[in-house]
Amino acid sequence: MRLFLFLGSLFSICLLSALAQARLSGPCSNCHTMHNSQDGAPMATFGGETGPNRALTRGSCLGCHGQNSGSKILDIGGSMIPQVLHTDATDLAGGNFRYILEGNDSNGHNVNELGNNDDTLTVPPGQFHAHGITNTSFSCAGDNGCHGYRSSSFDSFRSLEGAHHANVDGQLLTADTVPNSYRFLYGVKGYENETNSADRWQNVSSSSHNEYFGASTPTDYAADGCGACHSSKFINNVVETLVKPSSQTISGFCTTCHGNFHLLAGIGGNIVSPFIRHPTDISINNHGASSEYAGYTTYNINAPVGRLLVPTSASDVVEPANDTVTCLSCHVAHASAYPDMLRWDYNNMIAETNDPQQKDTGCFICHTTKDAD
Ligand code: HEC
Ligand code: HEC
Ligand code: HEC
Ligand code: HEC
Ligand code: HEC
Ligand code: HEC
Repeated sequence: MRLFLFLGSLFSICLLSALAQARLSGPCSNCHTMHNSQDGAPMATFGGETGPNRALTRGSCLGCHGQNSGSKILDIGGSMIPQVLHTDATDLAGGNFRYILEGNDSNGHNVNELGNNDDTLTVPPGQFHAHGITNTSFSCAGDNGCHGYRSSSFDSFRSLEGAHHANVDGQLLTADTVPNSYRFLYGVKGYENETNSADRWQNVSSSSHNEYFGASTPTDYAADGCGACHSSKFINNVVETLVKPSSQTISGFCTTCHGNFHLLAGIGGNIVSPFIRHPTDISINNHGASSEYAGYTTYNINAPVGRLLVPTSASDVVEPANDTVTCLSCHVAHASAYPDMLRWDYNNMIAETNDPQQKDTGCFICHTTKDAD
């Protein structure tokens, strides 16, 4: 009897902590439709679609997340849906796919769902080996995508199966399932901003932002081999071979498709300057404590750094000895207002500039002595 009670309370503790972690809320009918029919009319109409969708949702990935409204976070009857295609004045941390549709292909990742394939790039620049991911197959999730389990066994909905209802926020240290990985990017560690509920999914200020996981040496293919990007996992009693970055860093994640821009051999074989490509996953004052980089000490959301240990909350302090360069120090993940998906206009990065609009921005946030002092 006592054992039964004990197990019972253990069960409710587990249940409580599981409930505390799952943030998705609201009536089922906010997001699901059982037959895609009410009064004879379709219900899966999010984003102007007609449905039906897998998992009985009222929109596809883009239908729900790209409703092109004036809000970057849409409130549908008490359920909040983060938006990646909208007309709000400011964007969520990943950027806004609208910059591709209203701008240029080079402003971002032209995922298939946008219906606007990249006309210039046919494969991911810097890819380590040829595979099925091309400008015409590239998608949000699963096989040929970024979110969820990535392999040919998983289309976009299957790759996220159950993830929305099990989403974990805050410090993500385990990253061995989709819902406990950073932003459903399988295998990536990080901290999802929960400084306050209004700031979810955003980099708002030096003290309220996501925290990216970094490393002090890029992934070394000579050591990790195919495991640098591939690993296997039991899912529904089947061993699946999935794409997963061995480093579990955000730059390691980009590496899975853009390998040569990050792998140790790709930057020159070691972490000693001069490099052959801009390094990522190295400490900011890798070159020594007296380097120009030592001047970057207050977190700037226009050049986010990576952390060697995933923190429990957002910090406004940069420690150049520990914190690292990441792909997201210069790029966003979805699309930006600037060419090459950069966080700022590279054309304005002019050596020794005295222009108050450009000084201390972009490259100068780390390269503190390359503008006028
Ligand atoms: C705020 C939106 C939202 C609400 C509210 C919601 N769901 Fe879901 N649900 C989703 C999305 C999105 C998916 C598909 C993607 C995934 O599986 O993560 C999903 C998938 C599912 C699945 C299939 C995956 C799994 O977990 O096995 C079931 C079952 C499900 N929902 C049941 C429900 C029920 C029952 C309710 C009401 C109590 C509900 N959902 C409320 C968004 C929602
Ligand atoms: C699943 C594969 C995949 C992953 C992961 C990936 N990319 Fe890409 N990337 C592509 C493909 C395919 C293209 C070329 C087509 C396009 O630009 O839409 C591309 C293009 C780009 C471009 C050039 C955009 C242009 O059109 O000129 C940049 C910059 C970029 N990626 C950065 C990143 C960064 C940063 C990350 C990590 C946050 C990342 N990528 C992760 C597949 C990927
Ligand atoms: C730098 C990252 C990286 C490394 C290293 C790497 N792969 Fe891949 N591989 C990928 C990506 C990304 C895909 C595409 C997966 C998808 O379509 O979802 C892929 C796909 C594959 C596929 C599926 C077939 C296809 O063309 O899509 C095979 C097989 C494969 N890789 C084998 C290997 C082997 C063997 C090695 C070691 C010699 C290796 N890979 C090393 C990134 C990598
Ligand atoms: C029915 C609408 C709906 C559909 C369909 C849907 N999502 Fe979501 N998605 C949501 C909601 C609501 C949330 C916020 C969940 C929360 O509050 O934890 C969310 C959150 C996310 C997040 C952020 C997770 C985080 O770390 O907070 C990602 C990434 C995501 N969805 C990707 C996708 C992809 C990829 C698909 C297609 C396979 C998809 N979603 C389909 C409604 C939807
Ligand atoms: C997040 C910080 C950060 C940002 C932002 C940044 N860099 Fe760097 N950069 C570094 C670090 C760290 C090194 C390597 C220092 C070392 O070890 O010598 C480096 C090295 C370089 C090098 C020299 C490479 C070598 O062989 O030593 C050049 C050139 C460079 N960066 C240009 C740029 C340009 C141009 C931009 C803007 C597009 C930029 N960087 C943005 C941190 C940054
Ligand atoms: C220091 C800033 C900086 C960092 C860090 C950085 N990039 Fe870039 N990236 C640029 C700039 C600037 C360009 C424009 C092309 C150039 O200068 O080579 C660019 C271009 C690209 C392109 C487009 C190439 C093409 O052919 O159109 C891709 C893809 C890309 N970066 C991916 C990545 C990935 C992946 C990482 C991390 C491994 C990364 N970048 C890290 C600044 C950066």
